[in-house]
Amino acid sequence: MATQSKISPEEMEQFYENSKLAGVKPGWLGRGSQPPPKTQPFLWRWSDVRPLVHRSGEIVTPDRDVERRTMRLSNPGLDYGTTHTITAALQLLLPGECAPAHRHTPTAIRWVLEGEGVSTTVEGDKCYMERGDLVLTPSWTWHDHNSEGDGPMIWLDGLDVPLIQSLDANFYEAFPEDQQPVTGVGESEKKYAAGALRPAWESPNAPYSPLWHYKWERTYDALYRLAQVDASPFDDVALEFSDPATGGSVLRTLACWIQMLRPGVKGKAHRHTTSKVYQVFEGEGYTIIDGQRFNWTRGDFFVVPSWSWHEHGNESEQEAILFSIQDNPVMKTLALLKEEAYEENSGHQPVTEVFSGAR
Ligand SMILES: [Fe+2]
Ligand SMILES: [Fe+2]
Repeated sequence: MATQSKISPEEMEQFYENSKLAGVKPGWLGRGSQPPPKTQPFLWRWSDVRPLVHRSGEIVTPDRDVERRTMRLSNPGLDYGTTHTITAALQLLLPGECAPAHRHTPTAIRWVLEGEGVSTTVEGDKCYMERGDLVLTPSWTWHDHNSEGDGPMIWLDGLDVPLIQSLDANFYEAFPEDQQPVTGVGESEKKYAAGALRPAWESPNAPYSPLWHYKWERTYDALYRLAQVDASPFDDVALEFSDPATGGSVLRTLACWIQMLRPGVKGKAHRHTTSKVYQVFEGEGYTIIDGQRFNWTRGDFFVVPSWSWHEHGNESEQEAILFSIQDNPVMKTLALLKEEAYEENSGHQPVTEVFSGAR
């Protein structure tokens, strides 16, 4: 470090001491030592997690104290969260239970994994959930979950809580009753799910999609149709769930994707500033992240951190379907979205390690 020649070591030390006492830090100290990203690539096996989720049903009830019976996917590199911007959790609701109504500034999505008979009411609209359905509960919308079924239901919750916490903008309010009044059943789906066709007299201007419920049949049909005509070299047959009013991401902070990796597909590697949480909805395959190979099978979850090289493949004879939550709307809004293709070795990374699951 270059210092003024007329400054003695004693004076320098005094300067640092005075700075400390004044609560300021010389900016030239610690230059070039930015801490590395903390989110680690990781995989959670459904065979490990599922029994714990079911067991949680015998341990707690979603009353006003517990509120939500969830098991969070905890990234080993983070104090809180699944990535540095996203937290994902498994939520269980048993027959006859109600997860009481509330609202909060963090935005949430629900991706249904198993079971039936549960509805989520969003701003009065009761959405009956089935496996493969995506339900949005955007920032500051009232929502409660209610089971009228005769078996348990499990879904994936995805929220932007770590991001909202870092912005010191996490607000919460409980609804006075456990259930909010129901004003309609599936209205958002009936009005807006046609995608390219929407009510002509409306100009939706909410900061999120007016469609809150994306049914699996429509999603799979769209995947199947796209597979007939086009695919990405990185993600194979990939679709983003979109806001039918704008064509953009479903939420201001989160985007959701569904993608099909067809049998034998070997996607090329790339990296981007988006971090992603994946759920293996169907099938089996692998993802190589910064040289580490993660073999996954139906029900597993894994994380691709920001700016990590990654490539997906399917060596099986069945199609594999991946659902993912990602923070790219934030990166786009802030003009921080960067993407780069891996050019060497025909776009494929050397595998240096196979993920074993041990922490
Ligand atoms: Fe909530
Ligand atoms: Fe990617």
